[in-house]
Amino acid sequence: MATLNDIRSTFLNYFAKQGHEIVESGPLVPRNDPTLMFTNSGMVQFKNLFTGVEHRDYKRATTAQKCVRAGGKHNDLDNVGYTARHHTFFEMLGNFSFGDYFKKEAIPFAWELITKEFGIDKSRLLTTVYHTDDEAFEIWKKVGVPEDRIIRIDTSDNFWQMGPTGPCGPCTEIFYDHGDHIWGGPPGSADEDGDRFIEIWNVVFMQNEQFEDGSMKALDMQSIDTGMGLERIGALLQGSHDNYDTDLFKALIEASADVTNVDPYGDQNVHHRVIADHLRSTSFLIADGVMPSNDGRGYVLRRIMRRAMRHAHLLGAKDPVMHQLVPALVQQMGAAYPELGRAQALIQETLHLEENRFKQTLDRGLKLLDDELSGLDEDAPLPGEAAFKLYDTYGFPLDLTQDALREKGREVDTDGFDTAMAAQKAKARAAWSGSGESADSTLWFDIADEHGATDFLGYETESAEGQIQAIVKDGEIVREAGKGDSVQLILNQTPFYAESGGQVGDSGEIRLEGGALRVTDTKKAADVFIHFCEVTDGIVTVNAPAQLVVDHTRRSAIRANHSATHLLHEALREALGDHVAQRGSLNAEDRLRFDFSHGKALSAEELTQVSKDVNTYIRQNTPVETRIMTPDDARALGAQALFGEKYGDEVRVVSMGRAATGKGHDKQTYSIELCGGTHVKQTGDIGSFVILGDSASSAGVRRIEALTGAAASEYLEAEAGRMADVAAMLKAQPSDVIDRIKALMDERKALQNEVSQLKQQVAMGGGASGSVETKEIGGKTFLGQALEGVSGKDLRGLIDAHKQKLGSGVILLIANDDGKVAVAAGVTDDLTGQVSAVDVLKAAVPAVGGKGGGGRPDMAQGGGKDFAGAEAAIAAAEKLLEG
Ligand code: ALA
Repeated sequence: MATLNDIRSTFLNYFAKQGHEIVESGPLVPRNDPTLMFTNSGMVQFKNLFTGVEHRDYKRATTAQKCVRAGGKHNDLDNVGYTARHHTFFEMLGNFSFGDYFKKEAIPFAWELITKEFGIDKSRLLTTVYHTDDEAFEIWKKVGVPEDRIIRIDTSDNFWQMGPTGPCGPCTEIFYDHGDHIWGGPPGSADEDGDRFIEIWNVVFMQNEQFEDGSMKALDMQSIDTGMGLERIGALLQGSHDNYDTDLFKALIEASADVTNVDPYGDQNVHHRVIADHLRSTSFLIADGVMPSNDGRGYVLRRIMRRAMRHAHLLGAKDPVMHQLVPALVQQMGAAYPELGRAQALIQETLHLEENRFKQTLDRGLKLLDDELSGLDEDAPLPGEAAFKLYDTYGFPLDLTQDALREKGREVDTDGFDTAMAAQKAKARAAWSGSGESADSTLWFDIADEHGATDFLGYETESAEGQIQAIVKDGEIVREAGKGDSVQLILNQTPFYAESGGQVGDSGEIRLEGGALRVTDTKKAADVFIHFCEVTDGIVTVNAPAQLVVDHTRRSAIRANHSATHLLHEALREALGDHVAQRGSLNAEDRLRFDFSHGKALSAEELTQVSKDVNTYIRQNTPVETRIMTPDDARALGAQALFGEKYGDEVRVVSMGRAATGKGHDKQTYSIELCGGTHVKQTGDIGSFVILGDSASSAGVRRIEALTGAAASEYLEAEAGRMADVAAMLKAQPSDVIDRIKALMDERKALQNEVSQLKQQVAMGGGASGSVETKEIGGKTFLGQALEGVSGKDLRGLIDAHKQKLGSGVILLIANDDGKVAVAAGVTDDLTGQVSAVDVLKAAVPAVGGKGGGGRPDMAQGGGKDFAGAEAAIAAAEKLLEG
């Protein structure tokens, strides 16, 4: 039996034999289309080749493309697991022609592949064409499909469009007839939605482009885009009708059964199917850089993850399950998609964290939900705002809220939820447009169209000449600007680094004849470098040549921080493990900040180890090497790439440090990263490195802030200065400071004990020989005393001491213990039959603002807050004794 892996290879190899380039799948997060949430078909990565905007050195391509179809409105996940062919993740096999072959070749290719290579019975196949496409009809006839099996369809079903705009064209589809034991009619019939006739391949004749104004024009070239779902064709070739019966899905379902100990094919099967499907989409999304969050792509990921985890919960799993299934997935799909293996540690860590957190979220969210519901009329829908609060504050997906309410027969006001969500988004947009972002970004695209991309010279030089191509003032293109104006300048080339990859933009100066500008920042949009400037002198005119000079001191500091970040990244991976992946970074002139995936705070030992490692490689003072190579070569070297980043044909690879256990061709290079930033020449140029601290950046992500070079030395000098001051105050050498402080603390403790004893002695009348004043009242000896600075906890001991000394008597002590008043009463055993300490206490405390207290007849304790009433309290006790 051909496995899904075999079928994928057969498809790709067939088209490779027909002169097609086997192109790697594009990432799930499309780089060339900001309107698309996830890559949802094979043509996404080729979009601009069809319209002729982009050219590559091949005209025929074939791919197995990772696709995710999820997101959009709320409940589209519901079917997955319950039906034979719904997935959140699937693979689309395709062949593409970019202005090369067209219908005459595409149809015979498809026919040959499925009938010869795949050996599908011809008599079970039928095809559809767009109703006016006589040419396609004739070609099908020619390859041998009987006329009555070629169906003309006049609906959009046979006209394929990637979206509201973009390349499009009529298509032809191939259907498989599963036989009359299954209900359903052929395409175009009233019963076409049945399961008997299943579409297996869509071949699109790309020949038009759709525009926003509704018009459609013919493209200069005619192209081919095809799509065949691997899971579907796999099921068919393996003799099944259900995608979940294929070898790949069975392996995942059995893995799920293994960890949950629940029969894979029994009545709980649906839960295993959900888990198998969701394991694929979540793992591939994480490998492509999506992390669970409460918005956008990350939120779709979180919803899929939590749906899977809920189904694991329904299978009775007590411990997190999903991360345990990743090895099975890597085993099945890791060869075809190596990114899965590279990200395995990160995927497992992310799933584990999320699953652990899930329970907490569920409990907290449900409690809040109950509270909200208790204030509502029965049957009233949960207000959208409350559902939004659950979502926004507790990370509680709307699906979960709906699920929980469904059990109670109640609903969520989803319109209200959408309104609350829209309000929050509007707030975020307003904050963004107020953040000083430049004028309408289409302006930069216009400038790029007219002048092309800016040439960056800043890897080699910090000063260069350039020609001013555009001056933008207040969002408008102007021809000149004068002293005092704030403008943005575009030049044909520049040594100024534009903010990207965490490295801040350069600042410096631009000089030209008759004018000068101060550059405060540099950013990039649409491949043009935008210099944010203030005209400091004279006049600046378009087309003028100008001398550009980067602020050398600032750039050097930024460079040192960026190179140190690479060493830090590697040191963290060595100290903590391969799951450490960069999640964000800032390389500024005054510090560096590095965010990375790791679930818990670093210990003091780990931080010291990381700091020591980085400093070791700085002192090693080896050259930093930069090379340009293909992404594949870079990966073969072991380069750390950002997950899911789609790199061009060439990438920049930055290597530094020598290590016996390193990577690279020589297995000796410590750090290898794909990076577009600027770096030091030798690691020694970093100077030194000191970590300021480790903190949580967001869930599962830690943040380290650190200093290098002069800033690091200044920080350490300031620390040493403080240490010298401390040593001087202690009259000790810095090396003796810790012993000295320990000795002082011991001494302090001894003194405290001594003071406490002395206070007691004073209270007892100045020591063993002294005496305190007593009174005879009602035939009993009474000792009443107000004590300053005696601790409440010493009163019991004092009462006992007084009892001993008096032999027989009643004692009342009131102590002012640092603002609080402590009261204790004692009665010697011979008198407890006549008067109780509890009564004495109760008589006394009201005068010091107390409310009672308690104890036994021989000893009672209480408190108050007004020491000024102490004499009155003693008088009250005396009165009690007088009877
Ligand atoms: N782009 C076409 C589809 O997705 C092939 O069906």
